[in-house]
Amino acid sequence: MSNKATSIHGLWTSRWAFILAATGSAVGLGNIWKFPYITGENGGGAFVLVYLACIVIIGIPIMMTEVLLGRRGRSTPINAMKRLAVEAGAHKAWQIIGWSGMLAGFLILSFYSVIAGWALSYILATVSGTFADASPEVVGEHFGALLGSPGSLLFWHTLFMVMTIVVVLRGVEHGLEKAVRFLMPTLFILLLVMVGYSMSMGEFMRGVEFLFKPDFDKITQEGILIAMGHAFFTLSLGMGAIMIYGAYLPENTSIAKTSIVIAGADTLVALLAGLAIFPIVFSNGLEPGAGPGLIFQTLPIAFGQMPGGLFFGTLFFILLSFAAWTSAISLIEPAVTWLVERGFTRMKASVLAGAITWVFGIGTILSFNLMSDVKIFDKTFFDLLDYLTANIMLPLGGFAMAIFAAWLMPRIVTKDELGMGDGPGYAIWSFLVKYITPIGVIFVFLYAIGLIGEK
Ligand code: PFF
Repeated sequence: MSNKATSIHGLWTSRWAFILAATGSAVGLGNIWKFPYITGENGGGAFVLVYLACIVIIGIPIMMTEVLLGRRGRSTPINAMKRLAVEAGAHKAWQIIGWSGMLAGFLILSFYSVIAGWALSYILATVSGTFADASPEVVGEHFGALLGSPGSLLFWHTLFMVMTIVVVLRGVEHGLEKAVRFLMPTLFILLLVMVGYSMSMGEFMRGVEFLFKPDFDKITQEGILIAMGHAFFTLSLGMGAIMIYGAYLPENTSIAKTSIVIAGADTLVALLAGLAIFPIVFSNGLEPGAGPGLIFQTLPIAFGQMPGGLFFGTLFFILLSFAAWTSAISLIEPAVTWLVERGFTRMKASVLAGAITWVFGIGTILSFNLMSDVKIFDKTFFDLLDYLTANIMLPLGGFAMAIFAAWLMPRIVTKDELGMGDGPGYAIWSFLVKYITPIGVIFVFLYAIGLIGEK
């Protein structure tokens, strides 16, 4: 159709290439590192239930919306939104979705890279036998020593940023598809192995109960906000990462099916990670609410004890780093492509965006040691960044996308892009994105700050 834009950055070779790249973006530290620790901090089952509800009611519709906007706009989020706003006869200010997304991506990557650095450092620690037969205390001390050393953290953060930039400057298509094609199934199998091992532990059922038996007394108002924020974070929504991948999506691909596959795979990985980790937590008398160090303080205990643990453990941290890597690429991609559209070479754009992110990451590094006492709104720098991006910026971004797509874009355009014909699919999407998603986001915000609800 003549009024459809085309992408200057090329197209995916197939629907699978898109699924792999988007899954690569979605599956990352959010699933394996963040999901278990925030579940632990927020009391387990009830939190998981709210999170799952948010994935279905808010996450999947927003993912469809974001892919739709990307494919229709065929450009970086800022330019795509500008183009779409013009097409819809709306104000150009809607491009702010692109701006805030770019900012969110950059802020997220600045701490994401530091945590990915932990994973990288654990490859070395595991392969060199640090955790062989190690007691929970020894494992805990190792983690504490890493956090206490700004120099080590900086080294691993730098390495991870360099790895990310190297891929980004060569263009996303090269290598990413292949890496993800191999990585995802392997990571999945390895998680199954870990769950299998956890099953052999005395406290497996306690882990299962913790994850799946909701006790609503244990979840707070803030916990609900964190669950919703995590639905956005884990699916890479609300900041344009999925939009930009959607921009490379061929015309005749079903957006609904693809989104469901991606969200399903992402959720499965998170639940498997939870099933692997909590039995280890309970069997070793550890604290589920231990915070961001949870997987780094629990999994090595299992690797230290299980047969073949050196191999499995090393492989696990390699795969975790890989998963973080494919997510990191998508976090920086909107900024890089935007700079490219402004005339920068891809090389310069990548190095510039990477360097700024790297510098910002130093704030996160220091928040774990020298500046751990410095609190803003009662949060360390890292906590504040995480909170601000995942729980506020991403849901707001998603909210704005929903309003734009459902209320401002011509129905005929969204209908054409989603390509679901006259079946109930389009009506369901439209209802969710028009009413449920925006109201849901607002409701959770108001609830979290105590303006509605009891307490
Ligand atoms: N979804 C990624 C994860 O779960 O680790 C994190 C992420 C990547 C968030 C890309 C946002 C994004 F745009």
